[in-house]
Amino acid sequence: MLPKYRVKNIDLSEGGMKSIYLAESRMPTLLGIRRRFEKEKPLRNITISACLHVTRETAVLARTLKAAGANIALCGSNPLSTQDDIAAALATEDIKVYAWRGNNNEYYDCIKQTLNYTPDILIDDGADLIVTAHKEESILRKVIGGQEETTTGVNRLRIMSCQGKLKIPVVAVNNAKVKMMFDNRYGTGQGVISAVKALNVLFAGKIVVIAGYGWCSKGMAMRAEGLGANVIVTEIDPVRALEALMDGYRVLPMIDAVKEADMIFTSTSCKDVVTREHFQKMKDGTILANLGHFNVEISVEELEKLAEKKDFINEYVNEYTLPNGKRLYLIGEGRLANLVTLGGHPSEIMDLSFSVQALAAEYLTLNKGQLENRVYEIPGEIDESVARVKLEMMGINIDALTKSQKAYVQNFDSGT
Ligand SMILES: NC(=O)c1ccc[n+]([C@@H]2O[C@H](COP(=O)([O-])OP(=O)(O)OC[C@H]3O[C@@H](n4cnc5c(N)ncnc54)[C@H](O)[C@@H]3O)[C@@H](O)[C@H]2O)c1
Repeated sequence: MLPKYRVKNIDLSEGGMKSIYLAESRMPTLLGIRRRFEKEKPLRNITISACLHVTRETAVLARTLKAAGANIALCGSNPLSTQDDIAAALATEDIKVYAWRGNNNEYYDCIKQTLNYTPDILIDDGADLIVTAHKEESILRKVIGGQEETTTGVNRLRIMSCQGKLKIPVVAVNNAKVKMMFDNRYGTGQGVISAVKALNVLFAGKIVVIAGYGWCSKGMAMRAEGLGANVIVTEIDPVRALEALMDGYRVLPMIDAVKEADMIFTSTSCKDVVTREHFQKMKDGTILANLGHFNVEISVEELEKLAEKKDFINEYVNEYTLPNGKRLYLIGEGRLANLVTLGGHPSEIMDLSFSVQALAAEYLTLNKGQLENRVYEIPGEIDESVARVKLEMMGINIDALTKSQKAYVQNFDSGT
């Protein structure tokens, strides 16, 4: 008999429920889907194992999937991102939750607990759940497909697919336009204020280095600039570097950028973006934060080895003193700084991402047995319908093509 939940403190559930209701009030698109799901029950008899950041917005998704008829087992997708009151609240709602903040040692045990429920659908954020499920073929027996929330996860699953090792179809929820262009850009972009939450630092007049110029980093550069910082971008992709340059930022190799930096934010999906050689060249007081999925972008291991002293500043920050006397401030142990300090993306953003997740689960169920074992893009209709409802909920009207415009844009023959 499996324990129905493992959370830090079930008594936190009342406060957690209040947070969930507040999030729901800002997630009208997903609630609209929930109302339809309640009537149609598209996920009746479906068991979902999910590995997601256990935040209040994830709770809104879990309650929506449950309203659709699904049984849900949930674990955290990062040791530091679980909100303990939310995990407790979900446990009281008959969702099997195995998650608590600070779960460093039993991270994979919790993933395995959720897989013990012989799932039909795997909902993942970073691909740890799907990769683990592939280690025991019996787990995949009943699986219709998977859904991946983030860029790093999609990258990993694409590699599995290319190597012929992916044994289930997976929908790349991350790649939906209404996910990537908003969650990654505006959600993660707003994550630069993790430095304000952690250290109440002023951005105006500071030099902020942003590693990468993908969707997340573009948002971070834009928000740091908006707060008055001078932004330097580092890249490995010449097209993205050029884009950053023409967007008005300086572009430098990291080894040069670190010498000027007051703050450095990473979000590249790569490892060792900031390492020992960089730490040694930094100014006294430099703040370091990672917003990429895994805690390998800033080499915490090398920082720990290099530093002569490590001091706890507050629950979000550690101070490292180097042999050269310089002090560096690392936010959230190098893990997703926005989730560690701010509780993750705002509900309004997750309304979009999780509407796609909910519809992707319905899509997988409707297409059971018809999909190949590869990574699928989100169907365009899902993207469009989520955007349309979101606009409606915001009271924004847009134009529609007239009959003659439609005929014009569909006709190759009408040139000069
Ligand atoms: N913090 C969050 O809440 C959150 C939200 C969404 C995505 N993410 C994560 O953020 C990361 C970035 O996602 P994205 O959608 O922006 O990815 P992306 O692929 O659009 O962009 C990554 C960029 O980093 C560049 N890059 C790669 N290696 C580099 C290196 N060594 N130095 C400099 N630049 C390098 C790439 O060329 C690319 O332009 C991923 O790990 C993703 O999973 C985090």
